[in-house]
Amino acid sequence: MLLNLATRRRVLFLGGKGGVGKTTVASALALSAAREGRRALVVSTDPAHNLGHLWDQRVGDRVTRLGDGADGRLCGIEIDPDATTDQHLRDVGRTLRRLMPENLAGEVDKHMELSRRSPGTHEAAVLERMTELVETGREEFDLVVFDTAPSGHTARLMALPELMTAWTDGLLARREKSQRLGAAMRGLEGDRGRSVLGSSAPRDPVEERDEEIRAILLRRRDRLAGLREVLTDAEEASFAIVLAAERLPVLESISLHEELTRTGVDVGALVVNKRSPSGRGDFLARRRAVEEEHLATLRAALPDVPLQQIPLGEEDVVGPAALERFARQL
Ligand SMILES: Nc1ncnc2c1ncn2[C@@H]1O[C@H](COP(=O)(O)OP(=O)(O)O)[C@@H](O)[C@H]1O
Ligand SMILES: [Mg+2]
Repeated sequence: MLLNLATRRRVLFLGGKGGVGKTTVASALALSAAREGRRALVVSTDPAHNLGHLWDQRVGDRVTRLGDGADGRLCGIEIDPDATTDQHLRDVGRTLRRLMPENLAGEVDKHMELSRRSPGTHEAAVLERMTELVETGREEFDLVVFDTAPSGHTARLMALPELMTAWTDGLLARREKSQRLGAAMRGLEGDRGRSVLGSSAPRDPVEERDEEIRAILLRRRDRLAGLREVLTDAEEASFAIVLAAERLPVLESISLHEELTRTGVDVGALVVNKRSPSGRGDFLARRRAVEEEHLATLRAALPDVPLQQIPLGEEDVVGPAALERFARQL
C-alpha cells in the first residue's frame, strides 16, 4: 500500500513522533523506488538526523549516494539547520546592506544577529531549503521523500507557505499604497517646477530601491506559492503519518491528521510500525491485544485513511542489507 502511494506521487512526507521509524520507512520507500528504476532522494529535515546512522555511512548537508547507490538512483541529504540559517541570514543581510543607505550597515548587522535567535527564522530557513529541494529534486529525481521532524513542528512548517504568502501579499499591498502616495507627492512637487527636468531626469534611487524590494518580495511569494501548490496537490504529494500502536501516538496522529487536512495536505497513509508479532508467547499476545484497542481508536477516528502495519523486528534496522529486508515488508 505504501509502495503504491510512492509510485503514484513525486513528493512524499513522512511525519510522526521521534523513534517511530520515519527515517527507516523513508529510506525503505526510496530504496524500493530506486530498485524499480526510479531516481529517489531522501531529504532529512529532522534536526536529530539519523539517516547516516541508519545507512551506516556519512550523509551530511549535500546530496550523497545511499548504500550502493542503485546505479546513482538512490541519494540522501541531511539538512543542517544551523548552516541553513546562517546561509539564509547571509543572503538576506547582503541584500539588505545593498538596499539600505550605507550609514545603516551597522544597524542591518545588529538586526540580522537578532534575527538569528528570533522565533521563526529557523523554520523560514528550512522552508527555503525545502522549496529549493522540491524544485531541483523534481528535475533530477522521480521521487523526493521528506523525512520530517516530529509532529507539531512539521504541521506548522506545512502551513508556513500559506502564511508567508499572505504576509508577503500584505506587505506588497502596503508598499503599493505608500508608493501611490509617494508618486502623488512627487506629482505635487512637479507642479511646482520639477517638471522642467523633463522625462530624461535620472531615476530616483529611492524609487529604484523600492522597485527592487518589490521584485524580491514577488519572487519569494511566487516560490512559496509554488511550494504550496505542490504540497496541496494530492496527485503530486502526500503525507504518511508513522506511529506506534500506543495511546499517546494514536491521539497525536489524529490531531496531526486534522492539522494537515486543514492546511490542505493529503494524508495518504497511516503506518503503524513496530507491531508486536503474534505467536510469540503470552507477553506479546497481551501487548498485541492492548495495541488492537489503540488501533480501534485510530480506525474509528480516521476510517478513510489507508493503514499499513509493520511488525517489530528482532533487531534494529541498520545498514543497507537490513533496509533491503525491511523494504520487502512494505
Ligand atoms: N519495525 C521495526 N522493527 C525493529 N526496529 C525498528 C523497526 N522500525 C524501526 N526500527 C528501529 O527503531 C529505531 C528508530 O527508527 P527511526 O527510523 O530512526 O525512527 P525516527 O526516524 O522516526 O526517529 C531505529 O533504531 C530503527 O532501526
Ligand atoms: Mg529520524
